[in-house]
Amino acid sequence: MTASSFTPRVFSGIQPSGGLTLGNYLGALKRFVDMQEANTHECVFCVVDLHAITVWQDPEALTRQTREIAAAFIAAGIDPSRSILFNQSQAPEHAQLGWLFSCVARMGWMRRMTQWKDKAGKNSEEASLGLFAYPALMAADILVHHATHVPVGEDQKQHLELTSDIAAKFNHDYGVDFFPITEPVIGGPAARVMSLRDGTKKMSKSDPSDMSRINLSDDADAIAQKFRKARTDPEPLPDSYENLKDRPEARNLVDILAALQGRTPEDVMGEVAGQGWGQFKPHLAEVAVETMGPITGEMNRLLADPEEIDRILGEGAQRASEIAAPILDRTFDIMGIVRRA
Ligand code: AMP
Ligand code: TRP
Repeated sequence: MTASSFTPRVFSGIQPSGGLTLGNYLGALKRFVDMQEANTHECVFCVVDLHAITVWQDPEALTRQTREIAAAFIAAGIDPSRSILFNQSQAPEHAQLGWLFSCVARMGWMRRMTQWKDKAGKNSEEASLGLFAYPALMAADILVHHATHVPVGEDQKQHLELTSDIAAKFNHDYGVDFFPITEPVIGGPAARVMSLRDGTKKMSKSDPSDMSRINLSDDADAIAQKFRKARTDPEPLPDSYENLKDRPEARNLVDILAALQGRTPEDVMGEVAGQGWGQFKPHLAEVAVETMGPITGEMNRLLADPEEIDRILGEGAQRASEIAAPILDRTFDIMGIVRRA
């Protein structure tokens, strides 16, 4: 079945495993807001706490970070009365379908996931079973809502391909056209925001060096300092974007500026061609502070009232379950699992 036979619905999730970075903001949050504003899809956004605990999370930190991510969604522009915003564990259908999908997905598929290989590392015997099954739960998040579109950063592409494989295998094995083949929404200059210290690594909240990333919680001074110290080559900016192709650090900074301003990198190059770093970096920092400052401020304001955030998440979970429960019921039914009438 093609995605077009389903209600157009967006689903995406962010793990509460630390504070958000500029990569999360540009690659995910900002694009979620754009999709909400386009008004063409029902939007469901999730703080994926069950995914976060596939690696150790300190309980107090997990609670704080869950509220922080929820506050960041709202501060960035997600309106919980128009979009659904909730934390995964409060809509139990996600974990339930996750188990069913653990029985559909094959060991070999999971073993090929680069995120599994990166996170489990050499010591995979010590990794949690949940970390291995992670992509089956992610497929469940998406498919329990029959989501047709999933905006994510480039790093999640392989997980979305696996989601389609699970949907296709389920449909094939049970001879149904029940789960949609979901479309990834990946792209734009910020699909992969790179580390400020190494242009070949993605900017990540788990990088040991804080100088490698801009955090949503950084103040103006920290942002300016991090961009000033960002690694670059000594050459000034060339006259076209094309000529940045073998200069990953320089290209990353141009991509960041373009994404912050909602412009194409080619357009930005028209303006900054020939500039040296002493001119470009302070300008970039200024634009970043202007964009992120108000979001950080609003996030902190919301965090002063944790009960209100919990209320929003609870109400969102109820609305999420209203979509997910009938889809889960139908899945049990297709599989021949007896249910209470
Ligand atoms: P995570 O923080 O791993 O839960 O990721 C949440 C979302 O942010 C996912 O859609 C990721 O693909 C996206 N994301 C994370 N880091 C980056 C990055 N450096 N560049 C672009 N998108 C990113
Ligand atoms: N795996 C995603 C990440 O680390 C988070 C995630 C979990 C997700 N479930 C999802 C993203 C469903 C999109 C859709 O970024």
